Amino acid sequence: MIINGQEIETSADPRTLLIHFLRENQGLTGSHIGCDTSHCGACTIDMDGKSVKSCTLFVGQADGSDIKTIEGIAHPDGTLHAIQEAFRQNHGLQCGFCTPGMITRAYRLLQENPTPTEEEIRYGISGNLCRCTGYQNIVKSVMAASRELSMKEAAE
Ligand code: FES
Ligand code: FES
Repeated sequence: MIINGQEIETSADPRTLLIHFLRENQGLTGSHIGCDTSHCGACTIDMDGKSVKSCTLFVGQADGSDIKTIEGIAHPDGTLHAIQEAFRQNHGLQCGFCTPGMITRAYRLLQENPTPTEEEIRYGISGNLCRCTGYQNIVKSVMAASRELSMKEAAE
């Protein structure tokens, strides 16, 4: 599979949950485990162009796939992605536990719909729970990122 742009070849028990594989086998601990029952979205990653909850998949189901985790969202030179910057500037996080999943979900949401309304953002992130209930600023952050990315695209 490809993880964050790097091709990896390894062996694992195919019944291992993908989130455990990423965290324990690959050391990618940015994706969190909040429930293990597919409710919270803390484990959200991007797989083959879709947001998926990595606690709901076995690693065998990800064989050959192209995965992006929160560790792969920033630019290669280490500067923050516009979505990360928007969360930073708009106080889109409190304890930060849900943040990797929120940002990874927002990354895909803004590719599916680059200029979402507030309602579309709320619907788009409805599979991700914030136990700090910081939704107002999370939505504000995604809207700010959408504006920033649209301006960048228009300038290109
Ligand atoms: Fe995967 Fe909660 S840990 S949805
Ligand atoms: Fe604490 Fe969302 S910021 S869970």
